[in-house]
Amino acid sequence: MLIALLPGDGIGPEVIAETVRVLDRVTDQLRFETAPVGGAAYKAEGHPLPPATLDLAKRAKAILFGAVGDPDCDRLERHLRPEQAILGLRKELGLFANLRPATLFKELADASALRPEVAGAIDMVIIRELNGDVYFGEKGMRKTASGRREGYDIMSYDEDEVARIARVGFETARARRGKLCSVDKANVLETSQLWRDVVIEVSAEFPDIELSHMYVDNAAMQLVRNPGQFDVIVTGNLFGDILSDQASMCAGSIGMLPSASLDANQKGLYEPIHGSAPDIAGQGKANPLATILSAAMMLRYSLGLAAEADRIEAAVATALENGARTLDLGGKLTTTQMGDAVLAAL
Ligand code: NAD
Ligand code: IPM
Ligand code: MN
Repeated sequence: MLIALLPGDGIGPEVIAETVRVLDRVTDQLRFETAPVGGAAYKAEGHPLPPATLDLAKRAKAILFGAVGDPDCDRLERHLRPEQAILGLRKELGLFANLRPATLFKELADASALRPEVAGAIDMVIIRELNGDVYFGEKGMRKTASGRREGYDIMSYDEDEVARIARVGFETARARRGKLCSVDKANVLETSQLWRDVVIEVSAEFPDIELSHMYVDNAAMQLVRNPGQFDVIVTGNLFGDILSDQASMCAGSIGMLPSASLDANQKGLYEPIHGSAPDIAGQGKANPLATILSAAMMLRYSLGLAAEADRIEAAVATALENGARTLDLGGKLTTTQMGDAVLAAL
C-alpha cells in the first residue's frame, strides 16, 4: 500500500523519521514515497504544494504528514506560505472531517497542566470541520473610506457542509458513549446560528444520541474545569483548531495529540495537531508520539490494519509506563530515544 510521506518543515522531518521506524517494525505491507511540502518545497521549487506532491497525495492510499511552517516564509504573499500546503491538501482532497482524539495516558497524569483527578477524566474526540469557515472565505486587505487599512476574512458555512460534519459527529458519538456536544457562537454569529439549526435538524436521524450545545467561550472554560464531561465535540474549523490545542494540555502535551483528516471514503491524511515548532527544531527535542499515534490512526482508519494500530498504541503506553519522557513531558529523552523506547516496547 502506497503511503505519501510529507515531512515538511521544522520538527516535521524529525517526528516522521521516528514514525517510519515504528511502522516498519509492525508491518511490511507499506511502500513509502516522500515529497517536499511547505517551506521546504517553497525553497526547493518555489511553491509550498508542488504539483508532484499533490499528485503523490492523490495516488497514495493514505498520507502521513509532519508539519509545515517556517519563520523565513511568514512575510511571503499568502498563497506562497507554507501553511497553504496543508490547507490546499485538505481542500483539494476533500478531507472535511478532522478527528482529534484527546485522552490522557494514565502514566502521564503528572505531565498534565491540570490536577490528576481532573485531567484523568479526559477521554474525548474533537471533530473539527476542515473545508470551510473563515479559513476559506474571501479575504483581503483594503482601504476604508477614510483611507485606513482594513483586513477582512469572510466566515460562512452552507447547510450541506454543516450537515455532513454533524453526521460524522453523531456517528462518532454512537460508537463511543453516545454524547455529542456541538460548539458554536450562535449568540453572536449567523454562521453559528445556521450551524446550530442544522445540527438540530440532523439530530432527528440519531434519536439515540444525547445532543447538547455550548458556546465556544464556555467550552474553552469547561475543557479545563471538567474535561470528563465531554464525549464528542463537533465544531467548526476555527473553534476546533483552538479547542484542540487547549485539550492537548489536559492530555499532557501538544506533543501527544494525533489527528486524522478524512474524506467521505476513509481516504485520509494523518498528522500531529502541533506545528513545525521552530523554537526546538533541529535539536532532537520534539516528542514524536503525536505522529506515531497518528500513524496508528492511519493503520486503523485507512489501511484496515487494526491489530497493528493496537500494537503501536500499546507500545506507546508501555514506553510511558517505563518512564520514557521527552522534554515537553518533563523528561530528558531526545526524539530518537523516544522512538527507541517505542521500538523496545514493540
Ligand atoms: P507549534 O505547535 O509548532 O508549537 C507550539 C509550542 O509547542 C512550541 O513551543 C513548540 O516547541 C511546542 N511543541 C510543538 N510540538 C511539539 C512536540 N512534538 N514536542 C515538543 N514540543 C512541541 O505552534 P506555533 O509555534 O504556533 O507554530 C509554529 C509554526 O507551525 C507556524 O508556522 C504555524 O503556522 C505552523 N503550524 C503548522 C501546523 C501544521 O502543519 N498542521 C499546525 C500548527 C502550526
Ligand atoms: C493545524 C494548524 C493549521 C490550521 C495551520 C497551520 C493552517 O494550526 O493543523 O491545527 O489552522 O488548521
Ligand atoms: Mn492548529
